[in-house]
Amino acid sequence: MNKPKILVARAIFPEIIARLQQHFEVEANQADETWSRAQLIERLRGKVGAFTTGTDRIDAEVLAACPDLKICANMAVGYNNFDVEAMTARGVLATNAPDVLTETTADFGFALLMATARRITESEHFLRAGQWNKWRYDMFSGSDVHGATLGILGMGRIGQGIARRGAHGFGMKVIYHNRSRLDAVTELECKARFVSKEELLNTADHLVLVLPYSPASHHAIGAAELALMKPSATLINIARGGIVDDAALAQALRERRIGGAGLDVFEGEPRVHPDLLTVPNVVLTPHIASATVPTRLAMATLAADNLIDYLTQNKPLTPLNPAVLAIK
Ligand code: DGY
Repeated sequence: MNKPKILVARAIFPEIIARLQQHFEVEANQADETWSRAQLIERLRGKVGAFTTGTDRIDAEVLAACPDLKICANMAVGYNNFDVEAMTARGVLATNAPDVLTETTADFGFALLMATARRITESEHFLRAGQWNKWRYDMFSGSDVHGATLGILGMGRIGQGIARRGAHGFGMKVIYHNRSRLDAVTELECKARFVSKEELLNTADHLVLVLPYSPASHHAIGAAELALMKPSATLINIARGGIVDDAALAQALRERRIGGAGLDVFEGEPRVHPDLLTVPNVVLTPHIASATVPTRLAMATLAADNLIDYLTQNKPLTPLNPAVLAIK
């Protein structure tokens, strides 16, 4: 019997390809070629499933061109590359990869916060450039993390992980703002206090962004919000590019209107706003918050299992639009 055909759009662990091959005829991209949109569509035609990453946009145009498609399984918790409404309308299941990356991503958010507050990359560049010829009392003085006020915008699983690290590990006072307030037990566990967005911006010494990207959160942090922050504050973005207005941020950093920023995500990545590359008080990393081998393997396994479980048993593990299951 012919196996159903699927596409794996980006290079992935060979053992994941082998696992998928037990169930499907797999077209893979192990050379990790960068495909144009037309090339993605061409390869998706005739496939019932797609293993995607955050760089593969699945929208009405793609869906119209690929009528056999039944499921797109994203190897990411974020799914702003999916037009879920269009997928639901076409009866295409969308799945993401939540939970398996929560603690790893929270670790990274905290690492970026520490690196930014204590100016670690800036001072390393100075040292590597051979500029360290004497000690100075104020050399690379940063801001304290322990005991400081940690602000979190977006208090989902990763935000809560960061709150727990800050409150329990570093004795930080944790405040947060979110679409909806957490239940009392979770607030207590995270030692976190719900505040307005304005209070969050005014009060945080370190502000971490962990909210999902949507048109509603586009430029949630722009010039007006940056103006509300303390001049010594650090801003950490491990959420998505587009949540911060990168041009406004670069200007605020250059004019020292905030202390520093740590950015793992960028508007229009992999391009980075050129002004961010020229300001010293920013730590820049290439969207690696979930990048540990066990976590990336767990994310890939979950995406593969969603494809297998849906296409063989109609039981996906982490559906985003479960309404599709009823209409299958
Ligand atoms: C996610 O899972 O959304 C991450 O940003 C990918 O690393």
